[in-house]
Amino acid sequence: MSIKPLFDSFRDYLSLRDEPVAREWLDGFDWCLSERNLAPRHVTASRHLDAAADHAGRAEGALLARFSEFAGQLHWKQMYTAEDFGQDFLDNYAHVELIGPEGHFMSEEIAAGLVVYGPGLDYPEHWHVAEEIYIPLTHDGLWSADGAPLAPRKAGSFIFHESNMRHAIRAGSATLVALWVWRNGDLRQKADY
Ligand SMILES: [Fe+2]
Repeated sequence: MSIKPLFDSFRDYLSLRDEPVAREWLDGFDWCLSERNLAPRHVTASRHLDAAADHAGRAEGALLARFSEFAGQLHWKQMYTAEDFGQDFLDNYAHVELIGPEGHFMSEEIAAGLVVYGPGLDYPEHWHVAEEIYIPLTHDGLWSADGAPLAPRKAGSFIFHESNMRHAIRAGSATLVALWVWRNGDLRQKADY
């Protein structure tokens, strides 16, 4: 079954962001993307998604509700194995490539989707060639970039990582859910750490 309504909500949310990086990346972006028949793939971490709605931002909550609505049809992925950050990390982290070379909607220009970090999850410093936009959809997460200390960022904050800039993320006492976009790099790369 098509998840086009989720794609439309995702596009509409990003289209309203007025940050220069968002506009540079997305003005002129051709949103007419082919939908792949990607089989649903379930991972244990996606169980956190519904509870995140309680502490989402206002506009972000509507998008989050869309993801919850279609969660059972999504192809959930994990960039890491237990050898990287341990089994507890794997049980509490997962992402969806809604758009991208291997995503639900095909693009070689950008990759974009959603990521879920369960309560208290610590995602150590890592980096990748692609530039990255993160927009937390929930409050209470802690974010660090370029060696700065972890600092809280509210839902709807706009976070930008330059190519190979180190960054780290820690969920607060509740689940952290964020929208992500990659561009200008190997969109299939596993992050280094
Ligand atoms: Fe990243």
